[in-house]
Amino acid sequence: MKHRCAILTISDRGARGERKDLSGPVLKAALEEHGGFVVVGEELVSDDPDGISKALVGWCDRGDIALVLTIGGTGFSPRDLAPEATAAVIERPAPGFAEAMRHESLKITPHAMISRAVSGIRGSTLIINFPGSPKAARECFEVVAPALPHALDKLAGDPSDCGR
Ligand code: MTE
Repeated sequence: MKHRCAILTISDRGARGERKDLSGPVLKAALEEHGGFVVVGEELVSDDPDGISKALVGWCDRGDIALVLTIGGTGFSPRDLAPEATAAVIERPAPGFAEAMRHESLKITPHAMISRAVSGIRGSTLIINFPGSPKAARECFEVVAPALPHALDKLAGDPSDCGR
């Protein structure tokens, strides 16, 4: 069964209609190409942290979305508050995804250390912050994709032993 997921693009300029969202479609295509996911929600919000948290809670508390990927707002600009807005709604930290993205991305660009992305669990939903550029989003998806199906199976209550 495919895991249901949603994509939240975070961008002031995108929300004002000044910039076309290219990263959301890139991540959606990556999820669908993988084959194990179906995208059931897509939204674009400004960098306002309350709006970000509200969108995350809305999806997580529905109970039928396994994975929420956010894109953008993880850097050092004053309005880059996606990690804070995400941390505010996470109930159980799951730092491995953000750690792995930074670790692997550092092999591609030293700028990977600028991303403050976090990852964690609210209810039965895993939330992962992604950096905002289409290139970065695609690269980071390749890093986390191999671990996602097992993570989401376990989050859904799969009692089987971990094979590896
Ligand atoms: N990670 C990967 N894999 N590839 C990239 O090109 N860009 C970095 C970093 N992480 C990048 C990356 C840059 S330039 C920035 S500023 C930070 O992500 C934060 O990006 P954000 O503010 O758009 O979230």
